[in-house]
Amino acid sequence: MYVQILGSAAGGGFPQWNCNCANCTGFRDGSLKAKARTQSSIALSDDGEHWILCNASPDIRAQLQGFAPMQPARALRDTGIDAIVLLDSQIDHTTGLLSLREGCPHQVWCTDMVHQDLSTGFPLFNMLSHWNGGLVWNRIALEGSFVIPACPNLRFTPFPLRSAAPPYSPHRFDPHPGDNLGLLVQDTRTGGTLFYAPGLGQFDDALLDMMGSADCLLVDGTLWTDDEMQRRGVGTRTGTEMGHLAQHGPGGMLEVLEGFPRQRKVLIHINNTNPILDEESAEHAEVLRRGVEVAFDGMSLEL
Ligand code: MLT
Ligand code: MN
Ligand code: ZN
Repeated sequence: MYVQILGSAAGGGFPQWNCNCANCTGFRDGSLKAKARTQSSIALSDDGEHWILCNASPDIRAQLQGFAPMQPARALRDTGIDAIVLLDSQIDHTTGLLSLREGCPHQVWCTDMVHQDLSTGFPLFNMLSHWNGGLVWNRIALEGSFVIPACPNLRFTPFPLRSAAPPYSPHRFDPHPGDNLGLLVQDTRTGGTLFYAPGLGQFDDALLDMMGSADCLLVDGTLWTDDEMQRRGVGTRTGTEMGHLAQHGPGGMLEVLEGFPRQRKVLIHINNTNPILDEESAEHAEVLRRGVEVAFDGMSLEL
């Protein structure tokens, strides 16, 4: 299985257009050793030609331009995207669908809850129905696994995560299983298995078991500390409130990942306030020392 990291930042990207936090400023004035990053999205393939987009970021146009297999020329109008899987209905994971309108119809795989949000509070399904068949919904059931015809060797197993629906969801204050998913993806030929969860706030035994069956964990790297947005003076919400487990400290993501010595471990969906973006920071060094990698745009993995 080919795993292409198209975008490795959290909502807003890095640097964020209106942000003057220490990281964003340091990047702009050249004093910070860091890579710019677009908003969270990956692509998966079993043959390097047919790709399944996992989440559709607002930065999709630049992401596709930066990855040649997404721009094949088998026809006058062509794309490497054969299907799209949505793990939630957040802006940073779905807005890219609007930019893909010229290629409708698209096969979109998501849960009942995500489909509901995208038919009401953020009605992408309704809007895009005006473009050549729009978005064709393929329902992800919360039990069992599924295969997407474009990549018949990849088996997807969803795991409902405990988290919140976005502010525009009709059930914002009434969380349901299926608002947010983690995905286990296994290549049935190579056996290689990826666990992907860009928004991961809480763990239970079933989730830890699933992670233990993967070869690579590509997980939530949003924040270093739970109160980081407050510390950096850019917001009031904590990681816990947003459904993101911070990396640092007891019970943090680095400690959780220590329980998986066999796995390749990569942080993704990194917020622009996170000190691990600074490649010369103590925090970045600590992540590497603990056997964890920091995803970057253009990174590719083979499993
Ligand atoms: C999140 O990951 O919590 C959301 O994408 C935040 C946002 O973009 O508003
Ligand atoms: Mn996000
Ligand atoms: Zn910033």
